[in-house]
Amino acid sequence: MNNIIKTILLIVVSIQLVNCLTVSQEASSSIEEIVASYGYPIEKHSVLTTDGYILTVHRIPFGKNGKTSNNKPILLQHGLCDSSFTWIFNLPGYGLGYILADQGYDVWMINFRGNAYSLGHTKFTDKDSAFWDFSFDQLGLYDTPNTIDYILRQTGATKCAIVGHSQGNQAAWISFLRVAGFSNKVSYVAALAPISTITNMRNDFFNVMAELHVDGALVGLGFQRFLPKPSTLRKEFILYCGLCKRCCATGIEMLVGPHNGPFNDTRNPVISGHEPAGTSLKNMQHFSQIKRNKKFQMFDYGKDNQKMYKQSSPPVYDLTKLPNNLNLAFFYGKEDVLSTTTDVQILINQLPKGVLKHSQLVDNYAHIDFVWSLDANTLIYSKIIEQLKVYH
Ligand SMILES: *[C@@H]1O[C@H](CO)[C@@H](O)[C@H](O)[C@H]1NC(C)=O
Repeated sequence: MNNIIKTILLIVVSIQLVNCLTVSQEASSSIEEIVASYGYPIEKHSVLTTDGYILTVHRIPFGKNGKTSNNKPILLQHGLCDSSFTWIFNLPGYGLGYILADQGYDVWMINFRGNAYSLGHTKFTDKDSAFWDFSFDQLGLYDTPNTIDYILRQTGATKCAIVGHSQGNQAAWISFLRVAGFSNKVSYVAALAPISTITNMRNDFFNVMAELHVDGALVGLGFQRFLPKPSTLRKEFILYCGLCKRCCATGIEMLVGPHNGPFNDTRNPVISGHEPAGTSLKNMQHFSQIKRNKKFQMFDYGKDNQKMYKQSSPPVYDLTKLPNNLNLAFFYGKEDVLSTTTDVQILINQLPKGVLKHSQLVDNYAHIDFVWSLDANTLIYSKIIEQLKVYH
């Protein structure tokens, strides 16, 4: 056979091989399998934190068009009970992980300690209570800065950009405030549904938890992990979905409120297979505390604050002290019941002068729309790409 025809046949065959997972197969496939099925390179890295956790960080080193000269690293940080899955849930052209890779960026997607992908530790297993002894304080203190250091070592780059969703940018605020020199390693932060205080949150689940002190009760009963593996819950979700399509697909929407923007309902089973990815109960407890106390502050140990912090109440994260060399962009939604416009405005008012380069309120967006909506690519991601060209 003629070589040219052979090559064409090979290309056609490999294109078909590449796109071969059905929605239900994707529901039970790994993140690596899903990304590879769309023809993208995917790597799995293990990042060891200073306090012994082993984080799984997924990487799409470049996009469909191969490596470009603009192959700079970007770290994507998921929200509460979410995972790196969130960035590749939508198809190429829609999911931010794919879009940034196709723009020539080197895309790294963290899994914070305690989610389904980051259950490793040098001394403990996820059966040990010591493993679950963390809240978002440690995500900012260790997970984010340790991962950025790892990325800079691997790539030889001097700076990394960050895109954070919800808790993912909250962790970054903590790194900027508590980790010396961190701001010099970060060129730009795009904060989707930014979070600091959550005083005005209108989410029933959290409000009930905070008001009834359910968080403390659960800890008292000896619970450590918040939500089992997604696979354990899958059956319940599918049942729940059959009963109520609108409120469906995922426990994550129960936590953060239902989506409101245009959504690919065909892919609901894929969400049920991967979400929610879990965290520690102590982390949920910390969120309930800051809701009750109306302050963005470190974990409240009650009587033990004196021992932990040498003061009777937990130290407050003072956002007016953020470094003034930051380049931040905020994207927040009018329909977001977790990261409300009132709380985002409070956060914006505290920022040092000049660090906020862009602020955009999206009319119909709820909390999860920033990562899953089908029009986030044109409404938000195109703006992020424009700004990356300026600041990264
Ligand atoms: C929605 O999901 C289905 C199943 O993965 C896919 O075939 C379709 O192209 C998606 N639509 C959009 C607009 O992404």
